[in-house]
Amino acid sequence: MNIRTVILGAGAAGLMAAAHAGGDTLIVDHARAPGEKIRISGGGRCNFTNLNVDPERFLGENPHFHKSAIARYTQWDFIDLVDHYGIAWHEKTLGQLFCDGKATQIVSMLRQEAEKAGATLALQTALQTLRHDGAQFHLSLEKDGQRHDVQCQNLVVATGGKSIPKMGATGMAYDIARQFGLRVTPTRPGLVPLTFDQRFAPLSGTALPVRATAGRTSFDEALLFTHRGLSGPAVLQISSYWQEGTELTLNLVPGQDIAQTLRAARRQHGRRSLTTELALLLPARLVAFLEGTLGLKGNLGDLSDRAIDALSAALTHWRLRPTGTEGYRTAEVTLGGVATDGLDSKTMACKTLPQLYFIGEAVDVTGWLGGYNFQWAWASGYVCGQDIARSA
Ligand code: FDA
Repeated sequence: MNIRTVILGAGAAGLMAAAHAGGDTLIVDHARAPGEKIRISGGGRCNFTNLNVDPERFLGENPHFHKSAIARYTQWDFIDLVDHYGIAWHEKTLGQLFCDGKATQIVSMLRQEAEKAGATLALQTALQTLRHDGAQFHLSLEKDGQRHDVQCQNLVVATGGKSIPKMGATGMAYDIARQFGLRVTPTRPGLVPLTFDQRFAPLSGTALPVRATAGRTSFDEALLFTHRGLSGPAVLQISSYWQEGTELTLNLVPGQDIAQTLRAARRQHGRRSLTTELALLLPARLVAFLEGTLGLKGNLGDLSDRAIDALSAALTHWRLRPTGTEGYRTAEVTLGGVATDGLDSKTMACKTLPQLYFIGEAVDVTGWLGGYNFQWAWASGYVCGQDIARSA
């Protein structure tokens, strides 16, 4: 079979590219349904973009690469599309936009857009072999034990990263990149819970607002203690900046001068116990935990200025060394990927072979938590699709 464009991967980026590639497109995916990660995203409501998309909120070897695509296809473009389909949405927090209903509305919108543009879906189909003869790509596909040979002019690799292998994530994009001489930057799990020894097990389920810091990057969001360690938005965000073997700092009382608060409390309630006072500021279970680890005792009136300063330092600079992360099993994204120096930032085409494109999470561009990763998938898929349509 001869076809103009084959897109490998019917996820967020692949469907978006198909919607703009101008027809005669085959989308190949080994999964049973398209857009499976969209379906489960945002707790089933899909945090599809963010009102405050800012180029600084993306990580990658080249901190400028993504700027052109996200400027050409913005959050407002995607919001217009969602509105056009009458999909109701709301802002949850920090500019994060979620569907009021199910995330499957986004999947069916993208599927309709792709089909309207003339794309066909080949699901439960695996790629066996791939080569380029200087003019065309030759793909050998397998479905239900049958082999299908396909030739195409353009090939788009949109097979995502390695996160959640149980859902069919593979490193195929990296293998294809290497096959065509592109570099792949080291990959690691991002937006992922951090693990510790069993020490936090008694606190499992406790949540509080914190400032989490790794190196020079901080996030003020909620932290959640789990049986295995730490999670919650603050920790997922900082996990993308945390390097294996390094420390993390938590401020358990962000946005307030805790030393001043304790001094004022000492003046007004000198006979109140320190743990009673702290329980006004922190969850009771965390205070009980800190009572043991920091040796908290006595009444506020017994505290010296030095003791208050030491306690304030302990609460604002709690230094922790995670043993690791929960890995790709639970990571929302994969950091690293196809190196951007081999790609054209305006089209996502390979500089050495412009009919080969890499888009979405497969590329070494990773966004913050909060709709940034879908926005990258939409934007990179759009510029790629536009380039293919233009070259028709
Ligand atoms: P994506 O993973 O979506 O699609 C890749 C496709 O390729 C899949 O359909 C897969 O089956 C297929 N494929 C893979 N290997 C293949 C092979 N060898 N052969 C054939 N097909 C193959 N982001 C966000 O912005 N807001 C959110 O709310 C969330 N929530 C969220 C929750 C959870 C639990 C996860 C795991 C992730 C998120 N994300 C998110 C991240 C977001 O889902 C992710 O960044 C995008 O789906 C990436 O889009 P891609 O199209 O690049 O890959």
